[in-house]
Amino acid sequence: MSVKSKKAPKTTHKALLKWVDKMIDMCQPDAVHWCDGSQDEADTLFEEMVQKGMCIRLNEEKRPNSYLFRSDPKDVARVEKRTFICSNSKDDAGPTNNWENPRTMRRKMKALFKGSMKGRTMYVIPFCMGPLGSPISQIGVQVTDSPYVVVNMRIMARMGDNALEALGADGFFVPCLHSVGQPLVDGKNDVPWPCDPENTYVVHFPEERTIVSYGSGYGGNALLGKKCFALRIASTMARDEGWLAEHMLILGVESPEGQKTYVTAAFPSACGKTNFAMIIPPKEMKGWKVTTVGDDIAWIKPGEDGKLYAINPEAGFFGVAPGTSYDTNPNAMESCRKDSIFTNVALTDEGDVWWEGMTEEPPAHLIDWKGEDWTPDCGRVSSHPNARFTAPIANCPCVDEAFEAPEGVPIKAFIYGGRRMNDIPLVFQSLSWSHGVYLGATMGSEQTAAAEGQVGALRRDPMAMLPFCGYHMGDYFRHYLKVGKRLKETPRIFHVNWFRKDKEGNFMWPGFGQNMRVLKWIVERANGHARSQQSPLGWIPSYEDIDWSGLDYSEEDWNALMEIDRERIKGQVLQHQALFLELSEHLPSELIFERELLICRL
Ligand code: OXD
Ligand code: MN
Repeated sequence: MSVKSKKAPKTTHKALLKWVDKMIDMCQPDAVHWCDGSQDEADTLFEEMVQKGMCIRLNEEKRPNSYLFRSDPKDVARVEKRTFICSNSKDDAGPTNNWENPRTMRRKMKALFKGSMKGRTMYVIPFCMGPLGSPISQIGVQVTDSPYVVVNMRIMARMGDNALEALGADGFFVPCLHSVGQPLVDGKNDVPWPCDPENTYVVHFPEERTIVSYGSGYGGNALLGKKCFALRIASTMARDEGWLAEHMLILGVESPEGQKTYVTAAFPSACGKTNFAMIIPPKEMKGWKVTTVGDDIAWIKPGEDGKLYAINPEAGFFGVAPGTSYDTNPNAMESCRKDSIFTNVALTDEGDVWWEGMTEEPPAHLIDWKGEDWTPDCGRVSSHPNARFTAPIANCPCVDEAFEAPEGVPIKAFIYGGRRMNDIPLVFQSLSWSHGVYLGATMGSEQTAAAEGQVGALRRDPMAMLPFCGYHMGDYFRHYLKVGKRLKETPRIFHVNWFRKDKEGNFMWPGFGQNMRVLKWIVERANGHARSQQSPLGWIPSYEDIDWSGLDYSEEDWNALMEIDRERIKGQVLQHQALFLELSEHLPSELIFERELLICRL
């Protein structure tokens, strides 16, 4: 090694050492640091970043052991336009992914990465996605020149010496290369948030199981264990090995009798996934309790008993801050009360953080996410809409006792949902596994201001995986069907929509904690002891089947909320055609049959 290594690598893994050497040769960092994952190491890195003006240490009393970062205003979110699936064949990536010939892309990446870490330290981050020692977990190694990434990865994954130990001398790992793309050459001074937005690329080589990301330091573009590994690469591994890598939260529901039922749920971004993962039942629903295994990603594998078991590959929450409050999600607020990292939120005069929606009354003065003075009447938001908190799951008051269980938790139900103003009732259950796959495949959500695209436009987002599936979406549906066929017991599949509005534009369902009433019916159905009626869309509860204790909700309102207008639903079904046509060459015929059956039922 030609450069100064701050610490000797504690591994004899030949392929890993060779790969890291190759990355050093290409990126030419000034120093190399193998991360051990210790508190000492994190403290030192934070201290260095504070000194360099990259972050602010928050008030130790108000927000212990926590830091605020402000990104470059051009580097604030995942960049789907610059995200590529470079499979050997374009057909394998499918029409919903960007594709480039892997050889061409590799050449392009080599040119960008040549000398990209000059003047900086290369951090080598061994990490484990999933509980250490779990047969479902996977190891990755990320090299990066961003200390911000290191401290975030330490919260989001099991990172450092223990991951290296789990890898052993010859274990399999996913190499993840990352650079912010701002070498410090020709006397160039560093900036608080180095990045290269014009040249950002987030690239996946699914056959080689490798990830290369350049130019962005933000979230899913840079914390490569999350969307890149745990969803895009893992989904291709899951296809090849017979399991599922899903954009799903995992929660446990405990009944007053102490029966525990685990369910997963997939919602597109901006549908309140983190809130649902940590839902607090209304106090009148005595004895019901919800615990959280994960808020974003589930790795789900068939067990020897023919049932599905899930782990959360992550160890932290990377949650959207604006809108999160002690009203909407006290568990998330408690999770980031200490030991957390905040990005692009506002700073209070007391050295704490604030964001839109955190309290009803905004503080009289703040420093906003761009570092400028802010007052409530200034006409700007104080925090970026995609501002985030990075918080350890261990801090979450409702973390499930089996969160670290290597065998995972048994899954009884899958829930799909979207944000749909019209036509789609609050809840219904699929008639079969393949009907459930059809429900997931035809999921859609109306766009909010926070997401890309036109506000209100319907974005089809099958299984909430559109930006995260590492291969052809049609093959993905086929894989789902295949997994179901091999199981002795398939989870029951449900569809929910919290967002239906009446003619005056008011939400018809009170939402938030009341969603527990729907969850209770779902769990009871999954355990085979709740009643239901058949409808053209699937099994639905009637008014008496829902627990209304403590909520005044009339049967008339319920009927309006659950109304199925056959003609309007037919219109919806016609819209599914566009996606099916796009995927037609790989679309499993079962889904066409499901569509025909639905039309017949209507
Ligand atoms: C996320 C997303 O950040 O889904 O989790 O966009
Ligand atoms: Mn997500």
